[in-house]
Amino acid sequence: MDKARIGVVGLGTMGSALALNMAEKGFDVAVTNRSADRLPVFLEKAGPLAPRLVTAKTPEDLVAALDTPRIVLLMVPAGAAVDDQIALYRPLLGKGDVIVDAGNADFHDTRRRAEDLGAAGLHFLGLGVSGGEEGARHGPSMMAGGTQAAWAAVSDILQAIAATFRGQPCAAHLGPDGAGHFVKTVHNGIEYADMQLIAEIYGLFRADGRAPAAIGEVFEAWNQGPLMAYLTEISAKVLQATDPETGQPMVDVIADRAGQKGTGRWTVIEAQKLGQPATTTEAAVAARAWSAAAAAREAGKGLFPPPDKLHGPIPTEGDLEKALLAGRVLALSQGFALLAAASEEYDWSLDLAATAEVWRAGCIIRSGLLDDITQAFRVGVPHGLLQFAPHFVAILAETTPALRRTVAAAAVAGVPIPALSAALASYDTMRTARGTTNLIQAQRDFFGAHGFERVDAKGAHHGPWGG
Ligand code: 6PG
Repeated sequence: MDKARIGVVGLGTMGSALALNMAEKGFDVAVTNRSADRLPVFLEKAGPLAPRLVTAKTPEDLVAALDTPRIVLLMVPAGAAVDDQIALYRPLLGKGDVIVDAGNADFHDTRRRAEDLGAAGLHFLGLGVSGGEEGARHGPSMMAGGTQAAWAAVSDILQAIAATFRGQPCAAHLGPDGAGHFVKTVHNGIEYADMQLIAEIYGLFRADGRAPAAIGEVFEAWNQGPLMAYLTEISAKVLQATDPETGQPMVDVIADRAGQKGTGRWTVIEAQKLGQPATTTEAAVAARAWSAAAAAREAGKGLFPPPDKLHGPIPTEGDLEKALLAGRVLALSQGFALLAAASEEYDWSLDLAATAEVWRAGCIIRSGLLDDITQAFRVGVPHGLLQFAPHFVAILAETTPALRRTVAAAAVAGVPIPALSAALASYDTMRTARGTTNLIQAQRDFFGAHGFERVDAKGAHHGPWGG
């Protein structure tokens, strides 16, 4: 084999799948892994693709196997492992060579690494990769941040291996330094929100006595309509699956305790820092945290009287379908507003239409809505709020009455629906011209003489509370 076009470091699930995808698209790939025993296993798994792959036992061997500019793609756990690998490769690489971090990194780390490596004449690309193992192997969605030169060096490979939407690759250079990893973080924040919204709808059906498989059939039908999305599709499948050991519905034997690697939490932290509400993601992160408090929830069950029975039947299937659609639109709207705020803060000039474009296929939040979102941002969105774009105003006008009925019914029945309620509150807040922070201002002025603006005069004013 001639020298390899790219080196992949880390042959875990995602690294292996990306390397095989590249080899399949005709690129020669050098691979390495911290524990070298994985290398022969990987080559065996590669089967007919093995001739396009070269294994390297050490960083020196990997770098020696690469064509120039040398491209080293890291697919290792976020955090210290990335810094450790950069420290290993940095002395072996020269001016113009490129390091790509394809893991889920905290974008602050990516900004720091881009600056450090840039000072040494190296290029760094922070690459968000979405789609899980299947996506990485057959077509992920990829969000790149870094120098133009870094992108130019790898764009042909990334565009060849990416998912496509109507023939267009779902891989794009979205901005400098941490822009790609930030977009991926917000993607995951939206993913958390959507998963939570779906789980809440499942919870309402379950409270009404509906069996998992029957709920799965409803999701399957919904996936043919406006709720078409990867997450709707897989929810339908998992709800209809049976545990081979007990014969029970699979979801019934899974503990109610959600894991999280951190990207949802990062979204919420950055949203708070930017003063940008991302309340549906906050609700989803909180729901996962509450899920960990199993013992306390068990104790809580016995402490309080049960809520009233539903006043009337559970919302109709039609209402729940619309409620989920409204929630999804509002969660996406919050996510894009957060992207816009970060772009402003970090001077990224993020193209939100291009961002929506790379989410149309391959990623976990792909849905029928993303193409409409792309169009909306191309035309321009009033006040930066997707929910104000005419297409989405129409969807919300049609669906929010059902969201309202759903939230009300869940409140009466005592079924917790933090994300659906947060979505409704954000919708109602942003269609209420005069809210209630006038009272907050009065309170602040009362106890701290913080001053307030008057509706009829500019400048700082104080109230007559001094006595
Ligand atoms: C993707 C996913 C992925 C994420 C896992 C687990 O876009 O392919 O977002 O990047 O890491 O799904 O995430 P949590 O452990 O935080 O749920």
